[in-house]
Amino acid sequence: MIPHTPSETPPPNLSALAEDHYFSANPPPKDLEKHIALAKDFIDFHAAAGRRLVLVTSGGTTVPLEKQTVRFIDNFSAGTRGATSAEYFLEAGYAVLFLHRQFSLLPFSRHYSHATDCFLDFLREGPDGSVIARDEDAGKMLHVLRKYREARDKKMLLVLPFVSISDYLHELRSITRLMRPLGPKALLYLAAAVSDFFVPPERMSEHKIQSTDAADSVLQAKKKVAAATEEEETFDNFDSSPKVPRSKRLVVDLDPVPKFLKNLVEGWSPEGMIVSFKLETDPAILVHKARYSLDRYQHHLVIGNLLATRKWEVVFVSPGNPDKWIRVPRNKALTGASPSTASPALAAETQSDEPLDPKSLPEAEPDLEIESLIIPAVSELHTKYINSIEQRRQQKQLSV
Ligand code: PMT
Repeated sequence: MIPHTPSETPPPNLSALAEDHYFSANPPPKDLEKHIALAKDFIDFHAAAGRRLVLVTSGGTTVPLEKQTVRFIDNFSAGTRGATSAEYFLEAGYAVLFLHRQFSLLPFSRHYSHATDCFLDFLREGPDGSVIARDEDAGKMLHVLRKYREARDKKMLLVLPFVSISDYLHELRSITRLMRPLGPKALLYLAAAVSDFFVPPERMSEHKIQSTDAADSVLQAKKKVAAATEEEETFDNFDSSPKVPRSKRLVVDLDPVPKFLKNLVEGWSPEGMIVSFKLETDPAILVHKARYSLDRYQHHLVIGNLLATRKWEVVFVSPGNPDKWIRVPRNKALTGASPSTASPALAAETQSDEPLDPKSLPEAEPDLEIESLIIPAVSELHTKYINSIEQRRQQKQLSV
């Protein structure tokens, strides 16, 4: 190895530079300090109890087009994966810090929000004028209510919202740094659908982007107002017809969001186990992309899923292990009474390394939530991870 001479400068840490630049250029959300205080209190409480704690990220991130935001770019995620997973993590004894896109699905209340049935359809008026659950819904509602109250009363669940991509990244960095006292008992489960592109603040309009030059005309010269108003009535900026001159179209120019998984692995949360998700739409590239992400960021598990089949199957890609598909049986008839009596068709389907054909799936939702299979499998890997870190610590102590 060639030693450094004093005149040589060490190579710049590019991800640290990108991080500094991103976080100084993009302002933090207004509630960040409040969220940090809540998260610190929650994390310290569970670290002192020696409990496992999972940070679940959930929902989509918005990409604002204006600083005073009227318009933004969004994505499909409703937060189903995150909210459902949070419930199964609680069931498995984890404390859950649920960092979610504001107004996306929440653990427990998800059973009654965003549904095709309106929440009020689950209720009726009692004979004394009280509000009560409909008889057919009361059993499940009581069960969900008890689970929710138990999580809240035992301080096992903390729910914090974000909206935009930069809110999310500020919150993620601050919270994961606070998780260090948990050591390997921290688990990061990054299910949020994070935008890969954004408008940097220096190119972002302060006010609502105008679809006409009417406002300019007002500011520039009163005499142009009449002509500008006339133009406003006839001009539609969102019409992409070639007849619309390019100068009057809205052209959105986005920069890539720096990939922060590397910083997360190396600096923000050095001892926790990190699980990221990889979403694709093309089955042919899913496993390759998941493995690529694992090799690139050197974390502990990538859970791959396809948009069309994400409620039916996922694939676990982890270092040193073969890819492991987790699948919901397609119907009870296929399942059999127990694993030993499961039909050969089910066994073949469960073990196959080929992604399911979306066309072969029933239209209805699966009978079983796939998160009820994912979380025990993640928790098992987390146990192995904690044990391996403990063993390493003990070996170090012995060798000193
Ligand atoms: O909410 P649902 O409707 O239930 O949908 C769930 C889901 C499909 C959104 C979820 O299961 C899922 O796959 N979430 C991750 C989708 C995603 O953002 O994939 P990606 O390829 O863009 O990112 C992969 C990983 O890189 C993410 O875990 C993210 O933490 C990380 N990342 C992403 C962007 C970025 N700038 N920096 C990052 O570190």
